[in-house]
Amino acid sequence: MYDVVIIGGGPGGYAAALYAHNFDLSVALVEKDAIGGTCLLRGCIPAKTWLKTAEVYTTALRAAEFGVAASDISIDWGAALERKNKVVDGLVRGLGGLLKARKVDIFDGYGRLADGGVEVTGDDGTLHRLEGRNVILATGSKPRAIPGYEFDGSKVVSSREALDWNERPGRVAVIGAGAIGCEFASLLGDAGSEVHLFEMLDQIIPGAEPEAAKALNRELKKKGVNIRTGVAVGPAEVHDDRVVIPFEGDYVDVDKVLVAVGRAPVTEDVGLETTRVQVERGFVHVDPATMLTAEPNIYAVGDIVAGTPQLAHAGFAEGIAAITHIATGESAPVDYRAIPLVVYTHPEVASVGMTEAAARDAGYEVEVHDHGMRGVGRAIIQGEVGGTVKIVTQVDGPILGASIVGPGAGEMIHELMYAVAWEALPAEAAAFIHAHPTVSEAIGETLLSAAGRSLH
Ligand code: NAI
Repeated sequence: MYDVVIIGGGPGGYAAALYAHNFDLSVALVEKDAIGGTCLLRGCIPAKTWLKTAEVYTTALRAAEFGVAASDISIDWGAALERKNKVVDGLVRGLGGLLKARKVDIFDGYGRLADGGVEVTGDDGTLHRLEGRNVILATGSKPRAIPGYEFDGSKVVSSREALDWNERPGRVAVIGAGAIGCEFASLLGDAGSEVHLFEMLDQIIPGAEPEAAKALNRELKKKGVNIRTGVAVGPAEVHDDRVVIPFEGDYVDVDKVLVAVGRAPVTEDVGLETTRVQVERGFVHVDPATMLTAEPNIYAVGDIVAGTPQLAHAGFAEGIAAITHIATGESAPVDYRAIPLVVYTHPEVASVGMTEAAARDAGYEVEVHDHGMRGVGRAIIQGEVGGTVKIVTQVDGPILGASIVGPGAGEMIHELMYAVAWEALPAEAAAFIHAHPTVSEAIGETLLSAAGRSLH
C-alpha cells in the first residue's frame, strides 16, 4: 500500500514524486514511456535546444558586425540533432537517478484507475496491481489535430516529429501562431527555411500584449517569415512532392506542415469512467486549492486540469500542491496570478500577471508604462535593440502585470513575477537600482516612469 500512486511521469507527475520525500510519503510512479513527459522528451527541452542552435548560428552570421571574422558558417543539422538528443538523454538519466535516490518506485507500463487502485499493463501485456491511499493523475496532453490536417508523421506533423527532423526542411507551413508555432517559425526562419505562419486570430500569440506581439511580428518578418493572421486555411492537399495549403482564394506550396493549434488532454482510457471524477471535453475538474477531483482520494495535475495553463512549471506547482494536501491535509494553492509565460523565440517574449486589456476587463482603472531597448546600453552592446518592457499598474495601486520582449526576457520576467505576486507598488519596486549596464535596466526605467519620475 503506497501513500501515493502517480500515473504519468511528466513535470506534474515527477515533481509530485520528488516533492513527496519532504513528508516521507511512499510513492509509486507509473510511466509507459521514459520519465520526463512531453516537456523533457518532446517539448520544452528539445525545442529550446534547437532554438539555441539557431541563436548560435545567427550570432555567427553576424560575427563581422562585432569585429570577428568567420566564414563558411552553416548548421550541421545532424550534429545539432545529436546535441538535442544528448541534452534530453542527460536530463532523463539525471531525473531517473534523482527519483531513485528519493526512493520512488517506478513501474514501466500503462496505468489505469481500477477498483480504488491502479492497474499497470506492461509492454508484454502483464498486469500488475498497485494499491494507494491516494492517486495523482498526471497523464498530460498530446498535439491537437484539425480536420484536413491529419498527422502522417512525415509531411503533416506535430512538434513531436519536427523536433527530430534530421535535415533542414526547405519550405514549411506552420499552422497556429501560439507558443509552439512562433518558436518553430523563429527557429526555422533563423535557419533559413521558407516559413509560412498561419494564425486564425488577428495577432500572433493571441492573448499576449498587442505591443509584444507586434514586436515579435516585426522580428519574425525580418527573418523572412511570411505571417498571415486572421486567416483560415482550407484542407491541405498532400502530394508526393509537396503539400498545398489553400487559404482565401490563394495557396502556398510547402514540403512540410507543422500543426501547432493547441494540445488536447490525455484522459481517455485511464479508467476515469469508473470514478466520480468530473471530466469536461477531456479536461479534469479539480478544486484549485488542493488539486483534488470529485473523488476524495484522486488528484489531477498538469495539462489535463481544466482551466489552468498547460505549462511545465504550472504542472510542477500543481504536483507540489497535491502532495502538500495529501501529506498535511492543508491547502497550498498555486498562485496562478503570477505564473510567468515565456515564448523562447528570438527575441524572447515573456509576461506575467494581467495584460492591460485583461486588467481593464477585470474592472481595474489602469496605467501603463513602457520603455524600449533602443537606448539601453547593454542591449546596444548585444546588438539587440528591438525589445520593449511594458508594465501595467492599478491607478494609485500595485503592479498588475508586465511583459518583456528582448534578449533574456525569459530570465528578466522573474523580477516582475515577484512584483506582481507581492502586489508591489511601482514606487516600492523603483526604489531599487538595477546593475549597469544590464538589459534589466529597461525594467528599472519603466518602474521609475510608473512611480511618476522617469530618468532617461
Ligand atoms: P496555443 O494554444 O498556444 O496556440 C495555438 C494557436 O493556434 C492559437 O493562436 C490559435 O488561435 C491557433 N489556431 C487554432 N486553430 C487554428 C487553425 N485552424 N488555423 C490557424 N490557427 C489556428 O497552442 P500551442 O502553441 O500548440 O501550444 C500548446 C500548449 O503548450 C500551450 O498551452 C502552450 O502554452 C504550451 N507551450 C508553451 C510553451 C512555452 O511556454 N514556451 C512552448 C510550447 C508550448
